[in-house]
Amino acid sequence: MNIAIGSDHVGFELKPAIIEYLKELGHEVTDFGPNSSDRTDYPIYGKKVAEEVASKHYDCGILICGTGVGISITANKVHGIRAVVCSEPYSAKLSKEHNNTNILAFGSRVVGSELAKMIVREWLSATFEGGRHANRVEMIAKVEREEQI
Ligand code: RB5
Repeated sequence: MNIAIGSDHVGFELKPAIIEYLKELGHEVTDFGPNSSDRTDYPIYGKKVAEEVASKHYDCGILICGTGVGISITANKVHGIRAVVCSEPYSAKLSKEHNNTNILAFGSRVVGSELAKMIVREWLSATFEGGRHANRVEMIAKVEREEQI
């Protein structure tokens, strides 16, 4: 897969290990920054990666900040994005199978690198199940478009 990744200055420390792991799994990875641990603002990178995924330039995205919370909230403001913040693999897997998430976020202050890799692996290897879940995901899209559900 073609994966977009981004972080903030706190998530920056964990990002190289995740990029290396994604490449080991055979994926193409583009890093949308930041490129140093200088203090910055997570919305910049959450927005950028989300826009790249929403516009289908990338198959999916991975975002890392201190908790994964701020950067995933930002990503979810971009139309077409369903970002999940996870600190364990079960929710990551189910978020793909049931909610067809297209961005995975986690926190470098919450998970260590090995747990983060496990979360990434489960999320990337899971498949959206469609069926009744597709109806619900379409309902989410209607909320986004401010239509009745
Ligand atoms: C930065 O201090 C921190 O707020 C950020 O990395 C993230 O945890 C926000 O949700």
